[in-house]
Amino acid sequence: MAIPFFSKLRDKKTHLKLINKELQKVRDEIAAQTEAFEPYVREYMRRICRGQGKMLRPGLVLLTAAATGGIKKEHVTFAALLEMIHMASLIHDDVLDKADVRRDQPTPNALWGNELAVLLGDSLLAQAIVMGAEIGGSKFCRKMAVAMRDLCQGEVEQSSRLWDADMSRADYYELIRKKTATLFAVAMSGAAYLQGMDEEITEQLNRMGTLLGIAYQIYDDCLDLTGTDENAGKTLGTDAEKGKLTLPVFFLMESSCEDVADDVRNRVARHEEIDYTSLRGTEAFREAIQRSVDEALSRNEEAREVLWLLPDTKARKAMAEMTYRLDDLLRDCCTDL
Ligand code: FPP
Ligand code: MG
Repeated sequence: MAIPFFSKLRDKKTHLKLINKELQKVRDEIAAQTEAFEPYVREYMRRICRGQGKMLRPGLVLLTAAATGGIKKEHVTFAALLEMIHMASLIHDDVLDKADVRRDQPTPNALWGNELAVLLGDSLLAQAIVMGAEIGGSKFCRKMAVAMRDLCQGEVEQSSRLWDADMSRADYYELIRKKTATLFAVAMSGAAYLQGMDEEITEQLNRMGTLLGIAYQIYDDCLDLTGTDENAGKTLGTDAEKGKLTLPVFFLMESSCEDVADDVRNRVARHEEIDYTSLRGTEAFREAIQRSVDEALSRNEEAREVLWLLPDTKARKAMAEMTYRLDDLLRDCCTDL
């Protein structure tokens, strides 16, 4: 059910402009951080930081800060370091996925090989920790480290459970909570922590970030099956090739169209790639994407409800707008199926 007040913001794109100036400061901070590396590393870092991402995690930090009293210098640094952790994780992820393109640029593994890519990801991660130590105390650094540990544990679990027919939908949700939602959660709760908010609201913002992160990963998993490399700016289809069991796959295995359900289940059991070329255009495929999108939309709706705990400000409106943008992206996955 849509919340009446926030749903008025469904088609607006006005309030998100609120953080444009600060987002630029975050980009500048990331560029400045590349200069902290020695000359050998610096050129690689400059190249890595050239590809601009969607800046979702920095956006969440800045909006949370704005909605809880105002954006401080520490929030800009925090936003930059979270984007750097995210970038490091993507560099490693592209090695694992053997992906050649990300953010419309060749990936570090495609440019320089796996060895250098892994080391450069490590270097970026280390620099992010240096920045964390400069803005927060040990409790704050611990929070970040726990998020990174969860992120890595999610990836380890994913890599060990490729083609795992025993995996359940609940396992999938827990896995994406770890690999994606922890950074969304720490973006929001970390911003509240730096603002000195009380534990209860910090915890609720953590929950909101988790819900948004799960919704976002479901979107990403649907996009892997419905999008094009050109539009997404990255190599798609790698989930299917590798045997990652994502939400649409679970719904295909549970499809009321028994031929499809049997075929997909058998292929998973035999570690054989699912034949999406013939599945696309079928009712079973449409239904699997639609059910996945519905799951994400309902988490997004639940996330929006947390906003009632915040004072009525432009920043809160911007946060609601952001959740509606994610709704739009999700619905786009279902068009032209
Ligand atoms: C993208 O997922 C990847 C992640 C959400 C996390 C990757 C994390 C690691 C490889 C662990 C290393 C972590 C650190 C902090 C260095 P995806 O493959 O589903 O999405 P994609 O389509 O964008 O590649
Ligand atoms: Mg990947």
